[in-house]
Amino acid sequence: LSLSKIIVAIDGYSGCGKSTTAKLVATQLGYTYIDTGAMYRAVTLYFLRNCIDLIDEKAIQEALASLSIMFQFNPEKGCNETYLNGVNVEDEIRKLEVANAVPEVSAIPQVRKAMVTQQQKLGQDRGVVMDGRDIGTHVFPQAELKIFMTADPVIRAERRQTELLAKGEQVDLREIAMNLEKRDHMDTTRPESPLHPAPDARFLDTSRMTIEGQVEWVVQQSYQIMVSL
Ligand code: DC
Repeated sequence: LSLSKIIVAIDGYSGCGKSTTAKLVATQLGYTYIDTGAMYRAVTLYFLRNCIDLIDEKAIQEALASLSIMFQFNPEKGCNETYLNGVNVEDEIRKLEVANAVPEVSAIPQVRKAMVTQQQKLGQDRGVVMDGRDIGTHVFPQAELKIFMTADPVIRAERRQTELLAKGEQVDLREIAMNLEKRDHMDTTRPESPLHPAPDARFLDTSRMTIEGQVEWVVQQSYQIMVSL
């Protein structure tokens, strides 16, 4: 029995466990995981480093033309890492400085256009699990499976704190909650592909779920769709 490959689009708020879930789902399905948030973070890092003026369209265009983003598998960690112009930036793009600046950068239409084009190329052969904010609505509106993940804001802030702590970054819970709130607000209200569930998205509230439970649920949904194709 050979199953057709599908596109699994996972969208939702920051800190719901999208990327952790998506990564494990991809492993179980034998698919490629694509972290589109990492792409916007890498662009943001480049803009910060090169002091790009966010209202200078020409400077933005030039910057976009001179940056390349790539993912490479790290066998030691068993996951993909993000490379900006050939340099591993995986740790740097997760820092709060980047997280604070990314909503503004990812709201710029030219930036979104460039990233969406690249994401569509990465998923053209299907067999991908892609997570982000606009995957089911904009990047792959024809994705066979669309998941919209949500979770209680307090739980999300606590999870993010634990994640940062594991990386040695000690950050106040209130600061994280404020950062999440600001990102939610900007992600849902920006004019260019704001975060909202696709009409045919399946909702997954992870507040009281374990990672294993979330993964199992998405994998099950994926197989249900694959066998029906
Ligand atoms: O998923 P994340 O927290 O790494 O995303 C970082 C930022 O990028 C977040 O503020 C929203 C933005 N983003 C986006 O606008 N579109 C996507 N497809 C993915 C992320």
